[in-house]
Amino acid sequence: MTTQATSKRSRLDPEPMSRRDFLGKGSLWATAAALGVATLGMLRLPKAAVLSSPSKKFKVTLPDSLPPGQPFIPPGRSVALYRDAEGVYAVSLICTHLGCIVKQHSDGFECPCHGSQFKADGAVVKGPAPRALAWHKVTGSAGNYVVDEGVTVPPGTYLKA
Ligand code: FES
Repeated sequence: MTTQATSKRSRLDPEPMSRRDFLGKGSLWATAAALGVATLGMLRLPKAAVLSSPSKKFKVTLPDSLPPGQPFIPPGRSVALYRDAEGVYAVSLICTHLGCIVKQHSDGFECPCHGSQFKADGAVVKGPAPRALAWHKVTGSAGNYVVDEGVTVPPGTYLKA
């Protein structure tokens, strides 16, 4: 009897949905939506999740007025460049004790963390720093130089100016 009543209904007047069917379809759509969101999340995984850092190699122009023995510290870099009679060299400003950034101090550098002191060429004057400040590779000429903070060179390696 119910089948006859059902068959008389038109497509524009569908049979009312039972509560069970409504909940079943609702949970099906909720599952499909959750899978879709999870898939979108997985598509994002292959992207790099690290912040880019500035290149360790950078260009710098030394001012013509830079007196011999005076450091030039490019903004945002932890390197001091010097130009003297022997040439140009770059000294790291990263303390060899625990990695603090040293500050310019009279004729050298001083570490604000534990008090190590260094000469302008990076040699240790007072500990606890165990080693001299590193020297970095410098290339270029005529006041325009390229410093590579990723490459250390033996102390005393000048670029002839
Ligand atoms: S980090 Fe420079 S003296 Fe300790």
